[in-house]
Amino acid sequence: MNRLVVVSNRVPLPSSGQQAGGLAVALDGLMEKRGGLWFGWSGSISDGPTAALARVESAGAVDYATVDLTQEEHDRYYNNFSNGVLWPLLHTMPELMRFDRRDARVYQDVNSRLAASLQPLLRPSDLIWVHDYHLLLLPAALRARGVKNPIGFFLHIPFASPDVLGAAPEVAGLVRDLLAADLIGFQTDNDMANFAAAAQCLAGAVRVSSSALMVSGRRVRLGVFPVEIEAHAFARMAAEMERAEGCERLRRSLQGQRLILGIDRLDPTKGLIQRLAGYRRLLEKHEDLRRRVTMLQIAPVSRKDVGSYQKLRGTLDHDAGELNADLGEADWVPLRMISRATVRPAVAGYMRLARVGLVTPLRDGMNLVAKEYVAAQNPQDPGVLVLSRFAGAARQMDAALLVNPHDADAMADALDTALRMDLAERQARWRALWAAIEHRSPVIWGRSFVATLLRATDPEARAR
Ligand code: G6P
Repeated sequence: MNRLVVVSNRVPLPSSGQQAGGLAVALDGLMEKRGGLWFGWSGSISDGPTAALARVESAGAVDYATVDLTQEEHDRYYNNFSNGVLWPLLHTMPELMRFDRRDARVYQDVNSRLAASLQPLLRPSDLIWVHDYHLLLLPAALRARGVKNPIGFFLHIPFASPDVLGAAPEVAGLVRDLLAADLIGFQTDNDMANFAAAAQCLAGAVRVSSSALMVSGRRVRLGVFPVEIEAHAFARMAAEMERAEGCERLRRSLQGQRLILGIDRLDPTKGLIQRLAGYRRLLEKHEDLRRRVTMLQIAPVSRKDVGSYQKLRGTLDHDAGELNADLGEADWVPLRMISRATVRPAVAGYMRLARVGLVTPLRDGMNLVAKEYVAAQNPQDPGVLVLSRFAGAARQMDAALLVNPHDADAMADALDTALRMDLAERQARWRALWAAIEHRSPVIWGRSFVATLLRATDPEARAR
């Protein structure tokens, strides 16, 4: 079996004990099962110049090779360009973008430097799998160093339409360099169609089939690979945690009220302001629900050096305080907010307790919280998922109550419907949602990507 080399900005080093984002959650299981090399940023910032050679540590069958970033690289490559330009742009929120050419240069430099550190670790039969928007230039940077191995790329976040992309200067170069990969994977067919359109109008690619482009005489495969969760394992964890002390305390504190739960990184794409507006509208329209519901929003602070994230924190704290002050009572607080990270097992238990899982991003690549909420439910008495139609997950999970997160009334109505839904309908919807996730897993997802990469780069398979 060829060795798999995964490259991602964030590497879940076993020694760091960091909380995982969507990407790490998806890849961890695959790497544990398959083994291989995981390469990327160490999560540390070096005081002086960075070492050219990666540091390697091993755990089980996985070698982790990482490099530090300098403070300037962290500011310009990670904060300013990846999270201040590409993240909002690809989520179709160009108004949040802050473009500066110097950041774009450092982004380029870091991609080249990562390619230079990775190259000496590569073996001829390795399969390289690059992840996410931090590393759009890496396929071309590796090719420029003579790397001939198959290169796959997977984008965990959405891809915007060419119209929106045009807002960022120099975006054509990003699309062109990404096309140095042999296979480019997306979460949804919409993302893939947007990329194909951008490749044609910005990088001179020609579409030769629904899933292939020709660029300078090379064939580039495109594919849709929705990220999945380990549904059975998550379900077991939720069932166990339901009886744990922390969960019991939450249950007792609710005193019979129904729980509406939101779990998101504190991020402008997650629609948190709009979500509070929807909850507020619910309580204004349906006074009978006051004192009978509580909303718990867990929103751990994320990317705290990026301006739009700092601003969001201020607005959210303000709106949350106002909601509680306007609608709360001496003995009832409508909204509880937590900005510290909460460990996954506890979250799983809270999900099982919640009558409503409220997942309403303005735009999201997939959103694994939606899938985890379904997995966490008690099949005999399941809660209801209220899901934004702009999350990639909505394509697979149409048995949820789908909402437009910009429409506070629609969100209030969906919450009301969810809170009043009878057991038979809750069970029927849950069964349909569970069926959409139960036979899939990150390992199956990863295997299918790798198999497609092998087919795309095997000359014999191509000729057939
Ligand atoms: C999303 C992205 C990942 C990223 C994660 C956490 O899931 O797709 O690439 O790692 O968010 O964000 P952070 O900036 O903390 O790595």
